[in-house]
Amino acid sequence: MCGIIGILGRGPVAEQLVDSLKRLEYRGYDSAGVATLEGDHLDRRRAEGKLKNLEARLREAPLKGHTGIGHTRWATHGKPTEGNAHPHATDNVAVVHNGIIENFRELRQRLEKGGAKFTSETDTEVIAHLVNSYLIKGASPQEAVKAALPQLRGAFALAFVFRNHGDLLIGARRGSPLAIGYGKGEMYLGSDAIALAPFTDTISYLDDGDWVVLTRETGVIYDAQNAAVNREVLKSGASSFLVDKANYRHFMAKEIHEQPEVVGHTLARYVDMATERVSLPQKLPFDFKNIQRISITACGTASYAGYIAKYWFERLARVPVELDVASEFRYREPPLHKNDLAIFISQSGETADTLAALRYAKSHGLHTLSVVNVPTSTIARESETVLPTLAGPEIGVASTKAFTCQLMVLAALSVAAGKARGALSDADETKLVHALIEIPRLMASALATEPQVEKLARDLSKCTDVLYLGRGTSYPLALEGALKLKEISYIHAEGYAAGELKHGPIALIDEKMPVVVIAPYDQVFEKTVSNMQEVAARGGQIILMTDAKGAAEATIQSLVTIVLPDMGAIFAPMVYAVPVQLLAYHTAVVMGTDVDQPRNLAKSVTVE
Ligand code: AGP
Repeated sequence: MCGIIGILGRGPVAEQLVDSLKRLEYRGYDSAGVATLEGDHLDRRRAEGKLKNLEARLREAPLKGHTGIGHTRWATHGKPTEGNAHPHATDNVAVVHNGIIENFRELRQRLEKGGAKFTSETDTEVIAHLVNSYLIKGASPQEAVKAALPQLRGAFALAFVFRNHGDLLIGARRGSPLAIGYGKGEMYLGSDAIALAPFTDTISYLDDGDWVVLTRETGVIYDAQNAAVNREVLKSGASSFLVDKANYRHFMAKEIHEQPEVVGHTLARYVDMATERVSLPQKLPFDFKNIQRISITACGTASYAGYIAKYWFERLARVPVELDVASEFRYREPPLHKNDLAIFISQSGETADTLAALRYAKSHGLHTLSVVNVPTSTIARESETVLPTLAGPEIGVASTKAFTCQLMVLAALSVAAGKARGALSDADETKLVHALIEIPRLMASALATEPQVEKLARDLSKCTDVLYLGRGTSYPLALEGALKLKEISYIHAEGYAAGELKHGPIALIDEKMPVVVIAPYDQVFEKTVSNMQEVAARGGQIILMTDAKGAAEATIQSLVTIVLPDMGAIFAPMVYAVPVQLLAYHTAVVMGTDVDQPRNLAKSVTVE
């Protein structure tokens, strides 16, 4: 994850910028840079690799400006070189960016036609030239940023400084976090409370869509509709430990909201944004052409990610997939074939059942590939191939951002498998990768359903049993939704294939039994509508999660319809996971349970 800092200081800020970036090293990075303003001159120092290289640059050629921005870059578009390191700048403006600008290619073409000269391969540089295009026409920095932001598609956090504006720092947030730090005669912007901790613990987090204009004495925050708003000023206490809850009540809430950012970073590690092709972080030691069968093994939420991936591998790569929960895998004594592929999914990388299954597969000569969030974990170390999720530390026992990052990795892998096996053409790949590139933005939009979900949670908290239904890839998500609810609210819940309802579970339906139906409009939507009608006919209360088309076509009276952004159904679970997670979270909050540390549960189950 990239790290951002901006400082309006009372003295030279270069050293403070680097000090703050050191606190953001935990986020992972491969280059860094700072820019400061000295009178009418914007100057930058950037370096590939670790911060010590940037410090060496600053020793060689110090910066003395009292206004500046800094950035640790974790490469998405373009290699981790000095030329691609942030800040990106023109003569008039410098910017640092955390996130992805999906439409950077069309913006770059338009700006180049207008005479802009690009010097990097990054999406971020587009932002500098876009703002500059307004500045050179006489717009103020505020007007220029205000005009530029609506043209950017994607999830981002930004910080800007401007030539000849020594008492001005502008920030913007959409999908990736950004906080204001209030100092004494100084003002700051940072990715999180940890970045700001060296200077202040009095902070405000921007909401999604906010942008802010800071001077040393004032801060004016605007919302997405450019109306001036106030955001809570709080004490962060972040200096005490590395990971903080930011302004969230629970780690789980923070981790649900981090998803557009961390799924975006995982995406950027697995696709080449410029060519819209899959680009795995390492060469695979096998050829998918030679794989006759894939077995996917995991536990809990990770197993549901694997179940969704089963649909993807079979549909996109035409390779048969067997799925097992790890505690059953080796006791089933499955007939395994040497050189087939065994995939293991684990957030912690320490789950005993999954580790035992890995060792069993290895003993039978299979290729072993693990998808883990901790690359130094036991499962990672014992796997032939490791594909990391880049969710960052997941503290809440209920897995959320790791789940959607697992899905991103598995989606990219299934496309790569389809290409390797000749089941997908170049055009198919481009279309699928383009759909993946949109996911972080769509997840950020899905977060906007939170007020509606929170209200629904108050009703759900009065129930003793809940049913989740889905078809296709929404069926494993229904299983995950039921697990989320039961493990943190202690309300009994079951996930079922919607088509299975009439084969038994319909006996449960009455007005006391809410039924959550997960159904983006797709080729089986009509069948799911029939299942909903079966429920409604028996007085069941339906909570429908769908898109605009689904909401229009669903001819039943639902208790609540949660409308999500229109998107291709195939990768919908990554977006529909957001309201599913929020529903469990807010129900648990109403129930007053220990959301981050639910009773009887551990974050990593290291016993069989
Ligand atoms: C998920 O919310 C649960 N905490 C649990 O099911 C978890 O997914 C399971 O124990 C697997 O953990 P792992 O991903 O670390 O292997």
